[in-house]
Amino acid sequence: MEPVRIAIVGCGVIGKIHAQCCVKADNITLQAVCDVNKQQADKLGKEHAANKIYNDLDDVLNDDQVEGVILALPANLRAKLAVRVLKAGKHLLTEKPVARYEAQVQQLIDNRGDLTVAVCSSRYRSFAFLEKIRDFIAAGNLGQLRVVHIRGIIQDSGPRDSDPPIWRVSHKLNGGGIFVNWGCYDLDYMLGLLSWNIKPKTVLAQTWQCAPQLPMRVHETSDAETHALALIQCDEGMVIQIERAEFAAIKGETTWQIIGSKGSLRLQMTHFHDGPTEIFFDKINPDSKLTTQTLFSQNVDEGDAHDGPPVDFANAIRTGSTPRTSLENGLLMQKITDAVYLSAKEQRAVVIG
Ligand SMILES: NC(=O)c1ccc[n+]([C@@H]2O[C@H](COP(=O)([O-])OP(=O)(O)OC[C@H]3O[C@@H](n4cnc5c(N)ncnc54)[C@H](O)[C@@H]3O)[C@@H](O)[C@H]2O)c1
Repeated sequence: MEPVRIAIVGCGVIGKIHAQCCVKADNITLQAVCDVNKQQADKLGKEHAANKIYNDLDDVLNDDQVEGVILALPANLRAKLAVRVLKAGKHLLTEKPVARYEAQVQQLIDNRGDLTVAVCSSRYRSFAFLEKIRDFIAAGNLGQLRVVHIRGIIQDSGPRDSDPPIWRVSHKLNGGGIFVNWGCYDLDYMLGLLSWNIKPKTVLAQTWQCAPQLPMRVHETSDAETHALALIQCDEGMVIQIERAEFAAIKGETTWQIIGSKGSLRLQMTHFHDGPTEIFFDKINPDSKLTTQTLFSQNVDEGDAHDGPPVDFANAIRTGSTPRTSLENGLLMQKITDAVYLSAKEQRAVVIG
C-alpha cells in the first residue's frame, strides 16, 4: 500500500507527537508541516525531514501532494480550518475535542462528502487487544448492560515549569474544561467498547471551577471547570456515571467499569503506571459467588496510543474503511457534552434530542 502523504498543521505540543508518529509509520509520508509560528514549523520540519515547511494553511491546501491533513490546534481555531480542509478535498484527522458544540460537528459532517474524517479521541482504543474486549461485550457476556462507571481524578503533581495555556480550561476557546480535555477520551473509550451502541436520553450534571486557593493552575481568564460529575441515562435502563477532576481536593483515582446483569469489566484506559495493564471480568455465578477472570494482562506502551489515530486515519484513507472514531461518533459525544454543560448551567436535567 502506498503511504498516505500527510501534512500536520500546528507544530505545538501534540503536533510534535504526531510528527514522530508519521515518520515511524509504514503507511504515512510526512509531506508537510505548517505553523503560523515560523520557528516552530522550521524546527519540527527539519527535525523530521518533512518534504515541505509552510506557515499558511492555504499553502498546504494548494499542495497537490498533500492527501490528508492533521489539525493539531486548539478547538477554537480548528473548526473553521477543518471546513477549509474538506472544501479543498483533503482528508482530515482532527484533534480532540472534535469541536466546541454540536453545530460545529454537524458542519463537518455536511462538508465531508466522500472524504475520510477521523477524530483523535480514539487514542486510547488504539490497541488490538481492545477489539477482543469489544467482541466479548458484544457477545453478551455481561448480560443486560446497567452502568458505565468512569472516575478519573488526576492528582496534582506539584510545581509546573510553564504557565497553563490560555485555551485549556475555557468554554470560549476549548468548549469546556476537564470534561472535554479528558472526558472525551473516557467517552470514546467506553462507548467504542460498546460498539457505539448506546442512546443517551437525559443528562444531569454539575461542574466546579478550580479551587480559589489554586489560581496558578488555570489561566486567569478561565471560565470552565476542573471538576465535573454527570449522570447520563440511556435507552434500555443503562446509565453512564462519569466524574473527572484535576487540581481538586481529591486523592488521585481511576476507575473504568462496565457493569451488566451477568458480570462486569474492570478496565484501564490509560497505561501511565508500572506493571502490566490488566482487564478483569467479574462474574456472578448461580451459587451467588463472584469469580474473577483475567481477560488481559500485559505491559502496554503508552506511546502506541499516540501512534493509533494517524495510523488508523491513513489506513482508513487507503482501504475506504470507517476510522476508529468517526464524525458520527464525535457527534454523539458532543451531544452528551453540550447537555452536561447546559445541565450544570441551568441546574436541571437536560433531554438529548
Ligand atoms: N498538549 C497535549 O498533550 C495534547 C494532547 C492531546 C490532544 N491535544 C489537543 O490538541 C490541540 C492542540 O494542543 P497543543 O497542546 O498541541 O497546542 P499548542 O498551543 O501547543 O500548539 C498549537 C500550535 O498551533 C499553531 N497555530 C495557531 N494557529 C495556527 C494556524 N492558523 N495555522 C497553523 N498553525 C497555527 C500555534 O502557533 C501552535 O504552535 C488541543 O485541542 C488539545 O486539546 C493536546
